[in-house]
Amino acid sequence: METRRIGIILNGVTGRMGTNQHLDRSISAIIEQGGIKVDGDLTLMPDPILTGRSESKLRERAEIFGRRAIGKPFAYSNDLQGVLDGKHGDYDIFFDASGTLQRAPFVEMAVKAGKAIYCEKPTAVNTQDALDLATKVEAAGLKNGVVQDKLWLPGLRKLRMLKELGFFGRILSVRGEFGYWVFTGLDYDRPAQRPSWNYRQQDGGGIMVDMFCHWRYVIDNLFGPIASLVAYGQTDLPQRRHEDGTVFDCTADDSAYAIFKLVDGTVAQFNSSWCTRVRRDDLLTIQVDGEKGSAVAGLREAWTQDAGTTPKPVWNPDIPQPIDFHENWQQVPNNLVYDNAFKIQWEEFIRHVALDEPWAYSLREGAKGVQLADLGMQSWKKRAWMDVPELPT
Ligand SMILES: NC(=O)c1ccc[n+]([C@@H]2O[C@H](COP(=O)([O-])OP(=O)(O)OC[C@H]3O[C@@H](n4cnc5c(N)ncnc54)[C@H](O)[C@@H]3O)[C@@H](O)[C@H]2O)c1
Repeated sequence: METRRIGIILNGVTGRMGTNQHLDRSISAIIEQGGIKVDGDLTLMPDPILTGRSESKLRERAEIFGRRAIGKPFAYSNDLQGVLDGKHGDYDIFFDASGTLQRAPFVEMAVKAGKAIYCEKPTAVNTQDALDLATKVEAAGLKNGVVQDKLWLPGLRKLRMLKELGFFGRILSVRGEFGYWVFTGLDYDRPAQRPSWNYRQQDGGGIMVDMFCHWRYVIDNLFGPIASLVAYGQTDLPQRRHEDGTVFDCTADDSAYAIFKLVDGTVAQFNSSWCTRVRRDDLLTIQVDGEKGSAVAGLREAWTQDAGTTPKPVWNPDIPQPIDFHENWQQVPNNLVYDNAFKIQWEEFIRHVALDEPWAYSLREGAKGVQLADLGMQSWKKRAWMDVPELPT
């Protein structure tokens, strides 16, 4: 029985995503479950080192999560170059969850050190930079990947299952509703709940570049390739409060609206907003309407209505609505235990690196998400439909 150590450099891990999704719910959780059991003879065991700028923040995270997972603090260092140079031990994988604009320089450092690369999305804020980064990593012959977590959300897995079962028949349209109210931090006792850079374009912010990366891989993987799009973005709220207490002018879009036309003719429209109040089943809902049936998925649950149970509404605003439109929908049962989406993708990436198992979520795939956001911005500025050309391979 072999337990193979997989050394992982976790960079930018003191941030919101780095700490919550990657350190806590993925890497620590994998260690706590006893590693990744490949078969009776082999277990892959992550051994992380936390890197970033602030030694005190790193020490705190290393203490909290290391004590829980291995009974002592995880390794940490604010000397990333030294870690890449092997001064703190051998590490196989470099992961980056720092800010979007910091991503490329960090990845390039890790490429020079010959590490397998895994990172958060977006990989850049324009198509060329994202492609250049993918090309550099590929030219160095390194295994690489980008976070595409939504694919492993239970609700989206249920949509995929329904589609593969043929539940929908021919799919006509898809509608995604994403968002919730993000407090500005300007009001009494209502602190902002997301990092403020998201609302400054000069710092890599903007909901279009953030969310279109997700919509690209969700649509590509669940419904098929995108032929063209039209998009519009807006800065709804003019000012928000910075983490340092000052008030700043918002320069990035905080709502974005898009229609994607798929190659097979399906229409997918996605609304994304940080300035909307939720009165739907979840923070993200995706409705799929097909000839034979429809489904609505939230993050975890999904509901279906087939052709035979579709009610016949009659337009009459003069009487109270006689139909309860939430009736006649059936909840898809939870026949499986659904693990954390980020953790599942981490396990797949570690297996890809250690065992050469197949892997589809490369930096080049990630560049397609950036391309969709880039074209969305162009569509918005030009007030025009944009074709989505294939990226060079
Ligand atoms: N997959 C998803 O669903 C998802 C969700 C939210 C954010 N993200 C992406 O994850 C990334 C991080 O977002 P976040 O919400 O955690 O932001 P955050 O501001 O909370 O975290 C950013 C981290 O990067 C660090 N950092 C910034 N500049 C640095 C530098 N020069 N050197 C070293 N470290 C530096 C910060 O200290 C912080 O730890 C962004 O690219 C964002 O787009 C992905």
